[in-house]
Amino acid sequence: MSEALEGWKRTSYCGELTLADKDKEVLLMGWVQRRRNLGGVIFVDLRDREGIVQVVFNPETASAELFEAAESIRSEFVIAVKGTVVPRPVANSNLKTGEIDVYATDLKILNKAKTPPFYIEDGVNCDENLRLKYRYLDLRRPEMQKSLMLRHKVAFAMREFLDQEGFLEIETPILSKSSPEGARDYLVPSRVQPGNFFALPQSPQLYKQILMVSGMDKYFQIARCFRDEDLRADRQPEFTQLDVEMSFVEEEQVLNITERLLAHVFKKAMNVDLPLPFPRITYADAMSRYGSDKPDLRFGLEMVDIADLVSDCDFKVFANAAQNGGWVKGINVKGGASFSRREIDDLAKYASIYGAKGLAWISLANGEIKSPIQKFFAEDQFAAILERMSAVDGDLLLFVADTPSVTADSLGHLRCEIAKRMNLIDPDELNFLWVVEFPMFEWAEEDQKWKAVHHPFTSPMDSDIELLATDRGKARAKAYDVVLNGVELGGGSIRIHRRDVQETIFDLLNIDKEAQQAKFGYLLEAFEFGTPPHGGIAFGLDRMVMLMAQRDSIRDVIAFPKTQSATCLMMQAPSDVDEKQLNELHIALALSQNDKE
Ligand code: AMO
Ligand code: AMP
Repeated sequence: MSEALEGWKRTSYCGELTLADKDKEVLLMGWVQRRRNLGGVIFVDLRDREGIVQVVFNPETASAELFEAAESIRSEFVIAVKGTVVPRPVANSNLKTGEIDVYATDLKILNKAKTPPFYIEDGVNCDENLRLKYRYLDLRRPEMQKSLMLRHKVAFAMREFLDQEGFLEIETPILSKSSPEGARDYLVPSRVQPGNFFALPQSPQLYKQILMVSGMDKYFQIARCFRDEDLRADRQPEFTQLDVEMSFVEEEQVLNITERLLAHVFKKAMNVDLPLPFPRITYADAMSRYGSDKPDLRFGLEMVDIADLVSDCDFKVFANAAQNGGWVKGINVKGGASFSRREIDDLAKYASIYGAKGLAWISLANGEIKSPIQKFFAEDQFAAILERMSAVDGDLLLFVADTPSVTADSLGHLRCEIAKRMNLIDPDELNFLWVVEFPMFEWAEEDQKWKAVHHPFTSPMDSDIELLATDRGKARAKAYDVVLNGVELGGGSIRIHRRDVQETIFDLLNIDKEAQQAKFGYLLEAFEFGTPPHGGIAFGLDRMVMLMAQRDSIRDVIAFPKTQSATCLMMQAPSDVDEKQLNELHIALALSQNDKE
């Protein structure tokens, strides 16, 4: 039998056939999900992008040759079938096409297949590395196909909205310039400029700003970004941003267009109506109440400050923190009094991952108070704490006393973990939020230097310009993040558009004049040729689709993602290259024995 199409033309997708197609002669092509022989009749579940349909080979109507060919079919064979759409005697409500069968009249086996290393079906329970190695098989699974279709819809809706709003899609280079700020760069050696390197862009940030200097006015790009950083479930070394920039705007206009953009995208891709405007919270408030700059507000468990109540108590851990600028905060876990000691110890262990040196607790069950710290407090002090925490019977109060950052980080993560363990989260909720008034700078302890919280091109708030000279840690930026269900979906800012201000910020970041010139000279110079006020934002497209598809990892919504150790298991990249290629690039390897192993 020939494996060529020989004029056979597909008439329909398998997954699209319905009762309305009754009696139609169809020609289908796809993969065999499974083949069964039941009482002498062969049933083949045929799968394509749109779904599965049942094809029937009946020895009473099919020729002997056709029946024999059908018997040779195995899973994942690629076949073409001619047949008639026939209503099923008993419909299968689990299948979209479950009201019909296709009675086969002819068959072509277009290709055979080996037995795949895992089942091609949803919810496969196999090692992700195996899925990544055989990504083409993994991507045959309906849920993966759905995710990529959703991703297409999202990108399409973005383009549609931005086009309507007068934005121009402009591409910017992938071979770009290394800059000292941000994450580690991926470098590309130049063959024609020996010893020099391009860097892959961490984002199109400076190109889009230059496009504003060029008068393009409104720009967007669905842009690939590259960052050589530690990977997590929501971080890939190469990821995609919807990148947006506009001229002659203030923060309010960027937030407004962003909200309308997201509303359009969620309507088109998921048919949900997002209530606008999104609520806003300042960075300071978010840290203080939720211990995070991307708080998940789908549940309560808000952090409550009790420092003023404990500054002269006998529990030294609390008193010391309260007296020395630390934070003493608690959360009230409603219904948590039923937690066992073991469960509480387990929560303490969880908090310790984020640096908490302990987790103090008070439980109120059946009119009885239990707490390892009650003994340290006078009766009225203890009562004041219960009142501040709005404690009632059934509650479990959990406290951390530490530096502001450790208290925020540990209690902030703990509230999310408790919400998960107690099932407080509605998986269908879409909780959008703006976090605004980010600080300009933060002190990076490990590097012993000031770093830009957003990036060095972000404008300070007009009211805080004087703080730059006196107390830079307190100066706030015209920067904003959009958060969805506790995930940072996007971030942006109003930019600096004056050379002197940009130089001041570089100075404050301890980038010396020489480095400013070498790394950003073109930007500083551009600012001298008439730069409009401008600002923008960038969204993580992978993260957006991940949240829409309710997946836990962005790897599930990227066709060919990298592993945690930044490799492609399918192509086995990165890989070594020929000596000749290295020579052309003037590169000699200096690998240690360790590296070689
Ligand atoms: P930022 O660095 O905040 O801003 O990135 C914007 C958004 O991109 C997503 N994102 C990532 N997604 C997957 N893997 C990663 N490694 C990764 N890193 C970031 C996040 C994030 O919110 N140029 C600025 C934007 C601007 O100022 O306009 C920028 O890149 O969802
Ligand atoms: P101790 O007297 O050291 O046994 O501590 C009494 C309780 O306080 C224990 O439940 C500890 O987990 C808790 N604890 C210790 N250090 C801290 C801290 N920094 N913040 C909150 N609770 C703490």
